[in-house]
This record gives sequence, structure tokens and C-alpha cells, in this order.
Amino acid sequence: MSKPKVLVTRPLFPAARAILDKHFEVEYWTQADRIPRGELLRRVADKDALVCLLTEKADEELLAAAPKLRVVATVSVGYDNIDVPACTRRKVVATHTPGVLDETTADFAWTLLMAIARRLVEGDAWMRSGAWPGWDLDQLLGGDVWGKTLGIIGFGRIGRGVARRAQGFQMRILYNDQARAALEAEKELHAEFADRDRLLRESDFVTLHVPLLPETRHLISKDAFEKMKRTAYLINTSRGPVVDEAALAEALDQKKIAGAALDVYEHEPKVHPALVARKDVILAPHIASATVETRTKMAVMAATNAAALFEGRRPPNALNADALGL
Ligand SMILES: NC(=O)c1ccc[n+]([C@@H]2O[C@H](COP(=O)([O-])OP(=O)(O)OC[C@H]3O[C@@H](n4cnc5c(N)ncnc54)[C@H](O)[C@@H]3O)[C@@H](O)[C@H]2O)c1
Repeated sequence: MSKPKVLVTRPLFPAARAILDKHFEVEYWTQADRIPRGELLRRVADKDALVCLLTEKADEELLAAAPKLRVVATVSVGYDNIDVPACTRRKVVATHTPGVLDETTADFAWTLLMAIARRLVEGDAWMRSGAWPGWDLDQLLGGDVWGKTLGIIGFGRIGRGVARRAQGFQMRILYNDQARAALEAEKELHAEFADRDRLLRESDFVTLHVPLLPETRHLISKDAFEKMKRTAYLINTSRGPVVDEAALAEALDQKKIAGAALDVYEHEPKVHPALVARKDVILAPHIASATVETRTKMAVMAATNAAALFEGRRPPNALNADALGL
């Protein structure tokens, strides 16, 4: 019997390839550049499955171009690249990779938090320039982290991982979410629920962990910067469009906040030009989950999700399993 066909938009890692090669006739996109849209639409046309990255959009147009498609498996926990309702309408299962990247991403939010507060990137550039004159009392003074107030917006898997790490820094933790966490979780993480305005007003560090949804687009914009402390820092490892980059650049310019550390951008791979020149901004290239271990786990999870359907199983991380009656 012939195997189902899958298009995979990156060669992934050997452990994930082993799963795909066993279950599918596989076509990998192996070129260094991301797969061009036209090429994606052409290659997916006769496929039963698509394993893609967050850089590929699985929308109406793609689904219409792939009449045999039964599953779209993104190698990411965020799935704003997939039109899930459109998938459901066309009886296509959409899957993502929750859980395996929580700790790694929380680590990186903390990496950014520490680096912006203590001006590590500025210091590194100074050392490399050869211009450092030696120790002095008032050089590169940053803001303390320990004992400060951490505001977490989006208290899900990753947001809670960030809270767990804050315990060792004796921080006060405020969180905001659509839904209040269980009392046990609040107690365990020493986290207090606050509405968004209060969180913005009282936090020394505001860190974002919401998914990108219509309601979270530009969640942090001009009015949020008006509320934040002038000494506060913004950390974004969620999705770029959650922050209004033009408003952020303006807020920094007007010293409404002290700094920002970003892993994600409104129009990736572009960055707002006004942010690039600033020393009070750290720019990371969307690497919060980028460790060998975690990216391998994500790829294996996506491959497993895609393969499950063709083994007659419910894909473990299906986003629309109930809607499809799986
Ligand atoms: N930078 C990266 O490489 C990277 C890595 C992993 C995840 N992410 C992003 O982080 C996001 C969060 O991941 P997660 O696994 O913690 O997801 P999650 O679903 O466990 O948590 C998200 C939380 O946000 C809350 N939320 C949703 N809308 C909200 C709103 N309007 N206001 C306040 N809270 C709201 C949800 O209730 C939920 O508790 C992902 O959707 C993804 O986009 C980025």
C-alpha cells in the first residue's frame, strides 16, 4: 500500500525525520531560504499532510490549494500561522507543540530580563570596542532585579515558568490573565492576580506570555506605556504584534519606560528602525525556544502529531479534535 504524502518545510532533525520517513512518502524543503509562498502552494497540492514552521501560513488559500490535506502540524506552540476554523471547515486537523518548550522559553525570558536590567549587551559592546577605561563607580548603572515587582501578562505554561524562576530573586509577582489561576497555583508561585492597569502601574518588569489573537494584537501600546513606571522594563517573548513597536519606540524616546528586551517583532524579520539604534533595547532573533534539546522535542512532537492521524489515532496535540469529532 502506498504511504501518505507529507510536505515538510524544513529538514528538521534526525529523530523527527525517522518518524516521518517511517510513515510517509516525504518531501522536505531543504534550501537555506524559507520556502517561497508560491512554492509552498505548488508543493502542498498533492499532499496528505503538512509539517510547517511558524513562518508558513496555513490559511484558506493554502487549504484550497491542497484538497487532499488532512493534517497541518506546526513546529511551534503558538499557532497564529494556522487558520484553525478554516481547517475545521475543511476537516483538516491542526496541531501544535505545547509543553515541551515551556522551561526553555521561560529561561530565555529571564535571560532577556537580566540582560536589559544589567545592561549586559551595552557592556559587551563597550569591551569589544577597546574603549573601556577600567572600573569606575558610576559606569553602566542598571536597575536591580531582586526584590522588585514582576508583572506577568498571560499566566499559562510559560508565564508560570517565568514566575517559578522569580522565587529565587525574592520578587513580588503580579499576573494578569483572562482567567484567574487556581488558588493553589497562586499560593505555590506567590503570585497575585491584578487587572492589567494595576499590573502596568506597579511592575518594574512587564513580561508578555499571551498568544497572538485579535484581542492581544497591540495589547501593549501607547496607553500601556503611559501607565508603566518610568523605571520599568518590557520583555516580549510572546509574538511581535502583541507590542505596538512604533509606540514602544516613542515611549523609549520620551523616557516613559527604561528599556525593552524583545525576541519577537511586529513584522518579522523586520524590526522598527527606531528600535535598532537604541541602546536601551535588546533585540534577539526569535530564539526563546532555541536549544538543541527543545527544538528537537518540538520537531518530534510535530512529526508524531502528523503520523498519528494515519495510524488511526487522535493526534495528541490537535487544536480542533473536538470540533472534528476525533
Ligand atoms: N519567542 C518564542 O520563541 C516563543 C516560544 C514559545 C511560545 N511563544 C509564544 O508564547 C505564547 C504563550 O505560550 P504558552 O505555551 O504559555 O501558552 P498558554 O496557552 O499556556 O498560555 C497563554 C495564556 O495567555 C492567556 N491569555 C490569552 N489571552 C489573554 C489576554 N487577552 N489577556 C491576558 N491573558 C490572556 C491565556 O488564558 C493563557 O493562560 C504562545 O502562544 C506563543 O505565541 C513564543
